[in-house]
Amino acid sequence: ASLRTLNTFGLPAVARTLVRIDSARAVRRVVDHPEYGRAPKLVLGGGSNMVFTRDVSPVVLKVEVRGRRLVEERPDAWIVEAGAGENWHDFVAWTLAQGWPGLENLALIPGTVGAAPVQNIGAYGIELKDRFESLSTVDLVTGRSVTLDARTCAFGYRDSVFKQEGFGGLAGKSVITHVRFRLPRPWQPVLGYLELERRMHETGNFAPDAQTVFGWVCDIRRGKLPDPSDVGNAGSFFKNPVVTVEQCRDIIGRDPAVVHYPMPDGSVKLAAGWLIDACGWKGKSVGRAGVYEKQALVLVNRGGASGAEVVTLARAIQESVYGRFGIRLEPEPVIV
Ligand code: EPU
Repeated sequence: ASLRTLNTFGLPAVARTLVRIDSARAVRRVVDHPEYGRAPKLVLGGGSNMVFTRDVSPVVLKVEVRGRRLVEERPDAWIVEAGAGENWHDFVAWTLAQGWPGLENLALIPGTVGAAPVQNIGAYGIELKDRFESLSTVDLVTGRSVTLDARTCAFGYRDSVFKQEGFGGLAGKSVITHVRFRLPRPWQPVLGYLELERRMHETGNFAPDAQTVFGWVCDIRRGKLPDPSDVGNAGSFFKNPVVTVEQCRDIIGRDPAVVHYPMPDGSVKLAAGWLIDACGWKGKSVGRAGVYEKQALVLVNRGGASGAEVVTLARAIQESVYGRFGIRLEPEPVIV
């Protein structure tokens, strides 16, 4: 099966075997399958965080579990559940329309509900973990259904147990089928992000409702992030590096303009987009892979790019950022 339309970068790759998963039972059928049961597996959601550099020999499980519902209305929160195969943005819009706000800052993030906890998606001051209740998985060895809480998911910055390989990690070992969200009541907007503050001043609306914040976030994202249905991309290609105060001082010595944010734990987060931009990469291309004109942290497919071209471009960027600032950038998407 071709994976080209199943990854938002639009990269060409072929999966030897692709199984569509619409329920926990469908996962168990794979586990019990005489041939697929023991084979290595790759779990694919909306393909918004994957770079395919070659054809895929593991059995690809394309998660298509549907359904959205209110699980419980507590005095302090709405608990809402969605199937892992639901489109993330449509789910966010649906919760707002139902009168259950809280996910509006995470509007327009490409991908599925099931992929959201894998990389603990985040934007404009909120991370998935801030709205997370629990999730259901099916173990790919035992076929058993398990409910995981936030602790077990081990959420970090664009990270979770589902990205960890090896002992204790769950990468390739289980399939997320449903995710439950805790949307706190009473709703309170999260408006600390600079660009949201700017909107408040521009509009004179200092007490926006959730729908307004949703609209602002959509506007901001459309202004500087490419729509994957027009231009292939996987969002930010690198994580924002976290460094010590000493390292940061060294970098400020190299360029005083470096965008940096002090973190609660005393470390400092650097804007990777700024570092890449400062190295002159914005708008540049290597082969058919390029650096987006409006946001240097986003790599794009200029049409017909291969995964290898994207990776070559990414390496060249890593080398120049390392050469200039002594910082190693770490890719955000999974390179297959
Ligand atoms: N900047 C530049 N040049 C650029 C890009 C950015 O100078 O080409 C500067 C900006 O001016 C700004 C700073 O770098 O001062 C940070 O840029 P921005 O506000 O666009 O956010 P980001 O750090 O690049 C992160 C997330 C995004 C998320 C936004 C908003 C990561 C890796 N990325 O981007 O998440 O939408 O903040 O919260 O943490 C994603 O993960 O795929 C993603 C899009």
